[in-house]
Amino acid sequence: MTTEGAAMRNPYIPVPARVEKIITEVDTGDIKTFRLVFVNREDEENFTYLPGQFAELSIYGKGESPIGIASSPTRPGYLEFTVQKAGLVTSTLHDLDEGAEIGIRGPLGNPWPIDFLEGKNIVVVGGGFAFTTLRSLVNYMLFETNRSRFGTITVIYGARSPGLLCYKEELKAWEKRNDIKMCVTVDKGDANWKGREGFVPAVCKEVAPSPDNAVTVICGPPIMIRFTLPEFFNLGFSRENILTSLEMRMKCGIGKCGRCNVGHKYICKDGPVFSLAELDGLTRDY
Ligand SMILES: Cc1cc2nc3c(=O)[nH]c(=O)nc-3n(C[C@H](O)[C@H](O)[C@H](O)COP(=O)(O)OP(=O)(O)OC[C@H]3O[C@@H](n4cnc5c(N)ncnc54)[C@H](O)[C@@H]3O)c2cc1C
Ligand code: FES
Repeated sequence: MTTEGAAMRNPYIPVPARVEKIITEVDTGDIKTFRLVFVNREDEENFTYLPGQFAELSIYGKGESPIGIASSPTRPGYLEFTVQKAGLVTSTLHDLDEGAEIGIRGPLGNPWPIDFLEGKNIVVVGGGFAFTTLRSLVNYMLFETNRSRFGTITVIYGARSPGLLCYKEELKAWEKRNDIKMCVTVDKGDANWKGREGFVPAVCKEVAPSPDNAVTVICGPPIMIRFTLPEFFNLGFSRENILTSLEMRMKCGIGKCGRCNVGHKYICKDGPVFSLAELDGLTRDY
């Protein structure tokens, strides 16, 4: 697009995308990954993103929802979003068939700070389907021309049961690699589960990653985060070196409407990615 064309683009107007593939991630059926391809080449070229960013997915006549980008820019040609059925927009999305057309607006928000992560050992901690943008980050770091830019990569990922783990095939592929340490855990296994059992905080304590030159990137349900953070403080991780992503009801997604503030920060524009140090002094308790 020309500079003139880019300047004329209205950030509130979604562009069309087709649902190319739908993957049901969990046994309960209420979390699905939607693979989207842009209808217009120009829109695809304009959508340059990094792991951690999100987009507004819009269902014509229903509304929009902010959803984290689960795919990695190292796999061009499509975008993936993993969506839990919650209310009107996400339920309508879940009812769509492959081939349907929806709208997309973005990329929005700030990414995981790749420059800051570069050269460091990375501990990725995820719980439940909040693993989405962490999955994007892991795939980004593992990409052949990116891998040497990061030190050791440890992934601690937990779900309540084996059937609630997302991206099962990808987890298996990561397990087979020797340049990533995988610690997948479930609260309670089943007859077929041969892996680890236990809550994420307990696994973090057991794995005990060194804080030396290391950053933790953590995303999950508030309760998991509440019990996991003390483990990292005990290990010696500083608040500057613990990153997370916040969720908040949003409207514009671009810092204009004032619906998503926490203290003086707009989650849509200043975030959703923050270090704990950046969150200090803000009004909400995390
Ligand atoms: C930056 C960001 C990234 C997100 N990434 C994902 C993702 O990858 N996958 C995913 O499934 N969901 C994600 N969400 C949450 C998702 O936006 C909401 O679940 C969705 O907007 C609900 O819309 P709805 O119309 O289906 O439900 P509604 O009928 O609007 O609401 C249903 C329930 O969801 C709650 N809710 C609505 N909007 C939000 C919101 N923005 N954040 C938190 N709770 C909300 C409501 O309070 C209500 O309890 C993300 C939210 C943000 C802000
Ligand atoms: S959603 Fe409008 S300011 Fe953040």
